[in-house]
Amino acid sequence: MKNRLEECKAILKKYGQEHLLNHYEKLEEKDKEKLLNQIENINFELIKNLYANTKKEQKQGEDKITPIEYLDKYKLYDDYKYYENIGKKAIQEGKLAAVTMAGGQGTRLGHNGPKGTYDIGLDSHKSLFELLCDSLKEAGKKYGVNIPWFIMTSKENNKATIEFFEKNKYFGYEKDKNIFFFIQGELPMIDTEGKILIGENGLIKEAADGHGGIYESLVKSGMTKKMKQMGIEWVFIGGVDNCLVKMVDPVLMGVAISKGVTVACKSVVKANPHEKVGVFCKRNGKPNVIEYSEITEEMAEACDEDGELLYGESHILCNLFNIDAIEKMGANPLPYHVAFKKATYIDKDGNLVVPDSPNAYKFEAFLFDAFGEVDEMAVLRVKREEEFAPVKNADSAGVDCPKTARDLYKKFYNLD
Ligand code: UD1
Repeated sequence: MKNRLEECKAILKKYGQEHLLNHYEKLEEKDKEKLLNQIENINFELIKNLYANTKKEQKQGEDKITPIEYLDKYKLYDDYKYYENIGKKAIQEGKLAAVTMAGGQGTRLGHNGPKGTYDIGLDSHKSLFELLCDSLKEAGKKYGVNIPWFIMTSKENNKATIEFFEKNKYFGYEKDKNIFFFIQGELPMIDTEGKILIGENGLIKEAADGHGGIYESLVKSGMTKKMKQMGIEWVFIGGVDNCLVKMVDPVLMGVAISKGVTVACKSVVKANPHEKVGVFCKRNGKPNVIEYSEITEEMAEACDEDGELLYGESHILCNLFNIDAIEKMGANPLPYHVAFKKATYIDKDGNLVVPDSPNAYKFEAFLFDAFGEVDEMAVLRVKREEEFAPVKNADSAGVDCPKTARDLYKKFYNLD
């Protein structure tokens, strides 16, 4: 331990992060071990660069952004059946797996626990996880095949997530046969001086590093290998918070297969120019998404000659990948986006600080930044009322909240 400690001290000195060991002696043995592990595993060079980037002016407008082409699922006419049959065959042959990203914190919703455990208030009181599982079971019955379900958790919520599945007997979907969990990566949070924060437990304060790490996590955790052994060729990746997410869609699969693309994504028409959704576009000629926090007002409001938004295909986190594309995307690091957040921490004198305004940088990679790895992808416009009922905010926000999601869900399934 002594030598490890000295080595850690040397690393911290090099990067000006010596404060991380200020309270080391007060920690219990097992936490001492954990802290040294954290220090040994953090990429301090990366943190240094990420901090330096927060000081650089964001250069907007250097990339050439142009609209992207899309297909409308309900204007495919005769091709609809053609795509559907191709996709159906692949699904029946057991070539599709579903992945749900459930590593986010769900802070906006104000739910205490993994977001997937949230009950949106249906009469059945089913959680988001159970609603998603129901849709997989239903599709499984329809196509006579098991659709394996892979769930990405974070270090923060992995235990609570698995406990919830245990308690609910995996909703009748068998563990290790149909359900698999894997954990996403994390990065330390830093203050405005670039110092890494210490959390309430005396350890380094780390936070989930965004869903962009999903490709690497799928590969490193052995999930892509497992999928290949199961004969999986296509992987649908979706969010946990859309209770109408359609993870098994033969038309989407058929479009991807017959067009020979390795990524196919669903979109819905943006409800208004300022809806909080990312939109599909081309960036320097490659497929991409501009996130709602990064789009300019001018671009958000731009229309074509028919009055349709130029950037109106909303990204709804319903994306289908060929398994080889996932492996390729996992091999290259993605850029990190920075968010300024409130983070409780222990200061250098050992006092707990609970800030009432943002005080720390959090770094997140976005899965769609990997879309540029492929030259072409397909975008399939679907109907919002059939496929997009997100639960993002508390009811007081009035949009993308439990009430709006519940109403959409009930309407779709004729529950009233
Ligand atoms: C997201 C999309 C946005 C899209 C909108 C549609 C991002 C960055 N943006 O916005 O383009 O239009 O949904 O609803 O995704 N998650 C993890 N690990 C993380 C972070 C997030 O698993 O580290 C999961 C969450 O659990 C959730 C999903 O990713 O299932 C979306 O994350 P969230 O941060 O809620 O994104 P939004 O801001 O809602």
